[in-house]
Amino acid sequence: MLDLQQIRKSSRDEVGDLIRARYPLIYVVSHEEVRVEQSLKRLCIEREMRMEVWSITQGFRVLANGSGDRDVKDPMKSLDHVQRGEADQKAIYVLRDFHPFLKEPSIVRKLRDLATELRSTRKSLLLLSPVQKLPPEMEKSVAAVVDWELPTRREIEKIARSLIPQAPPATQEQIRTDPTFIERVVEAALGLTAVEAENVFAKSMVRTHTFDLETILGEKKQIIRKSGMLEYYEHREEFSDIGGLEVIKDWLVKRRHAFSSRARTFGLPLPKGILLIGVPGTGKSLTAKAVGALWEMPLLRLDVGKIFAGLVGSSEENIRTVIRTAEAVAPAVLWIDEIEKGFSGTRSSGATDGGTTSRVFGSFITWLQEKESPVFVIATANDVSALPPELLRKGRFDEIFFCDLPSGEERRQILDIHIRKKQRDPSKFDLDKMIAATPEYSGAEIEQAVIAALYDAFDSGDDLSTDGLLNSLAEIVPLAVTMRERIEGMREWARTRARLASASSKGQSAATAGKKSWLARHGASIAGGDDGNGHSDGGGKSNGESEANSGNPRKLEL
Ligand SMILES: Nc1ncnc2c1ncn2[C@@H]1O[C@H](COP(=O)(O)OP(=O)(O)O)[C@@H](O)[C@H]1O
Ligand SMILES: [Mg+2]
Repeated sequence: MLDLQQIRKSSRDEVGDLIRARYPLIYVVSHEEVRVEQSLKRLCIEREMRMEVWSITQGFRVLANGSGDRDVKDPMKSLDHVQRGEADQKAIYVLRDFHPFLKEPSIVRKLRDLATELRSTRKSLLLLSPVQKLPPEMEKSVAAVVDWELPTRREIEKIARSLIPQAPPATQEQIRTDPTFIERVVEAALGLTAVEAENVFAKSMVRTHTFDLETILGEKKQIIRKSGMLEYYEHREEFSDIGGLEVIKDWLVKRRHAFSSRARTFGLPLPKGILLIGVPGTGKSLTAKAVGALWEMPLLRLDVGKIFAGLVGSSEENIRTVIRTAEAVAPAVLWIDEIEKGFSGTRSSGATDGGTTSRVFGSFITWLQEKESPVFVIATANDVSALPPELLRKGRFDEIFFCDLPSGEERRQILDIHIRKKQRDPSKFDLDKMIAATPEYSGAEIEQAVIAALYDAFDSGDDLSTDGLLNSLAEIVPLAVTMRERIEGMREWARTRARLASASSKGQSAATAGKKSWLARHGASIAGGDDGNGHSDGGGKSNGESEANSGNPRKLEL
């Protein structure tokens, strides 16, 4: 069973509810055994439950409400011990690392019998393990799976504060006088386990005699990278690098403070995410990359392919790790590039991989729809036909944007950006000629031509010129020519299902693509960091502003 909704609530409350609801068998996934057990112990003390913890090396030890350790190391006998425990006494039995024994049919059988029996007692059995390895016959019926959350801000802060007495006086003084200092340290360490956080704090203290943000962030990036599926993307792209796509840009600018507590107090819902669909090379990935900088949030890039790269069976594990990490790092942007590539096998999944792809996909969209954490998802797709239709249903994304080939005005902006990037002055070039020569060119193709022209110029000893650019533009056969039908199909598809990413491509040039460039309208307010109130939304609200829908009713797990 793969239930990601459980991540939202504190894991301890979740387990508490499962116990009250008489779930006899609970499977907790966490690398942090000590942290989980301490938290469970507090729960047991509050609720007057006995707590016994078993491991193959130590047998049973009583951690709360009682005494009487038991030297039962044999896994089968440990289950007997649970069975013999007094039925009326409230108790949790925690079995550490029991997953290897779930390969044995007799153990599985015994667990299933026990689960049925425990239902009529006040005893609960909890398997605690760093990996989820449940045999299929138990997955469906027997166990509830809880992904134990990573440490919260408060927990991380406690760890950091515990090290302060050992810091040099100057550092202690700095922490005392700068109230935001610890806050930033904690922010930088979110997403680490308690042990990882403590380690990196200690390392930083030894090296720099303070909490060094660079060291902490560096460690976090490495750990995120180690997960193998997420990359902490260092953004180099700025919003001003994007030509055209006014409607998307306006949408994103308008929401750049949407994750602040001020926005919550104001009554705004958390933005969930957007899907950018469209012609290859039109700036979808570019836009995703630039959001991190605009919103000043970490940008995590998810490689969907890698979720499935391992052995079948661990993919479920992988998607949960991704979500758990993103939620711990939040507020964060989760960028899923070319989402169709990872999830295209969803429909045939039952036949090809025992349903793994569709299960993983299912838990992803459930999370997308129900998440209440400040993780903003930006997904991009080049191929509409490969997208599973469930992804497009209302309530998954706030908006679906369609990125068409750039209009003339948009190509002007794109040319301007790329010529400027090569340290040349765009006003020295005949942009009108180039615009006329490039109908149906994508932004990527224009960029490619600028680079090619620059090479030619360098080779012939000239400088970049209009003629040079026109020549290299003429050498490109735009994708639009070779994939005309596919693009037409996409446009047709988008007409009813998506919002156009740029107003001008819809022929509304007067409204947005007009005289003033996007930057002229927004540049000042971004730089000044003001609220960005008062600029109009460039496009029609064809797809409806769906913020109002995002307060989905919480689906109870129990
Ligand atoms: N609208 C645009 N404005 C500026 N540059 C663009 C634009 N669209 C594409 N490019 C250039 O082409 C490159 C590739 O575009 P990309 O965002 O990867 O396209 P997509 O993801 O839509 O296929 C970008 O990095 C950028 O240099
Ligand atoms: Mg792309």
